[in-house]
Amino acid sequence: MSISSNKYGYIPGLSRQVSRLFFGCAIRPMNLGQDAGELLDAALENGINAFDTARVYGESEASFGRWLRTRSCRDRVILLTKGGHPDFSRGEDGNSQITRRISRKEIRDDLEKSLLTLRVDEIDIYLLHRDDPSVPAEEIAGWMDELVKEGKVRTIGGSNWTHQRIAAAREYALAHGLTPFTVSSPHFSLAETQTDLYGDNCVTLTGDANAEARAWYRENPVAVISFASLSQGFFSGRWTSDDFRSHDARLKPEFIQAFGSEKNLLRLDRTRELAAEKGCTVSQLALRWGFSQGMNLFAAVGSTSPQRMLENWQALDLPLSAEEADWLTGK
Ligand SMILES: NC(=O)c1ccc[n+]([C@@H]2O[C@H](COP(=O)([O-])OP(=O)(O)OC[C@H]3O[C@@H](n4cnc5c(N)ncnc54)[C@H](OP(=O)(O)O)[C@@H]3O)[C@@H](O)[C@H]2O)c1
Repeated sequence: MSISSNKYGYIPGLSRQVSRLFFGCAIRPMNLGQDAGELLDAALENGINAFDTARVYGESEASFGRWLRTRSCRDRVILLTKGGHPDFSRGEDGNSQITRRISRKEIRDDLEKSLLTLRVDEIDIYLLHRDDPSVPAEEIAGWMDELVKEGKVRTIGGSNWTHQRIAAAREYALAHGLTPFTVSSPHFSLAETQTDLYGDNCVTLTGDANAEARAWYRENPVAVISFASLSQGFFSGRWTSDDFRSHDARLKPEFIQAFGSEKNLLRLDRTRELAAEKGCTVSQLALRWGFSQGMNLFAAVGSTSPQRMLENWQALDLPLSAEEADWLTGK
């Protein structure tokens, strides 16, 4: 296992070192319940010990659980899963409906299903996949603490929670001797999103509007596990700014809408230019940029290729100066 200090970090509440790269398990083969052994083996053998899945990623938990059993590697792995995702459905009028599922019972039911599907006794990092701001954060903090006390989960937090709600849950927990949230999983990447990436108020830390949130994470002992850390493949190296400007037919309109702003296209051009200069890939440079932003950051990335995941892993050791990092953002 590589011993580079850039590659590992600590998450408050976990005693083991955690790889700064989380293998994103929301990839097609795993969602379909297929065997992903080759991909997962390559990740673990190269030192990536953290894996991000969720109750709602199709058959991803089942695929991951099978791999854990066949390799007998549970004790080498940091396992993150999520529950409490809302139901998205269509009402009789054809309009989409969102039913939030943040109650004590729904959270417990989801966790029990995850434990059964993954066939493990305990989850290392358990996150609520979305928030329901109508439920007091203090109440949720109490429900989540119960799960820790029962030995079902080790650390807790929220995905797509605002930092203010994370702060409220923490404040209450710390004042009442409960386990505080120590993990937050929002979107964060070099490209700013112009749309709600996955629906129902996904939270992002990118952009000027979220400077206060990033400052909060720099000052508080809460780890950030970013998702869509390569902007859903905007920084895969497969696309140029011209592809976006010309609305290349291979690009989905919602992808262009989410990431195709002039600001992002400049960032893409600059990332391509600096990557060529440094002799690394566009993905490596874009990923490395996130770690220059001063938070206790871990990045979830999805890839269907062992080689590309290894490239992502190697990116953590790339040299990048503060000036270069600023330049990439267009400054
Ligand atoms: N908490 C949440 O609400 C939430 C929401 C979304 C996602 N997530 C988590 O975050 C993970 C990642 O998100 P994501 O997959 O949507 O976006 P992403 O990681 O930003 O982008 C994935 C895309 O990048 C490509 N890619 C990855 N590494 C590459 C490399 N080295 N070179 C070139 N292309 C590369 C992949 O293609 P190839 O497969 O061809 O390599 C894929 O098309 C998910 O798997 C999931 O675990 C969490």
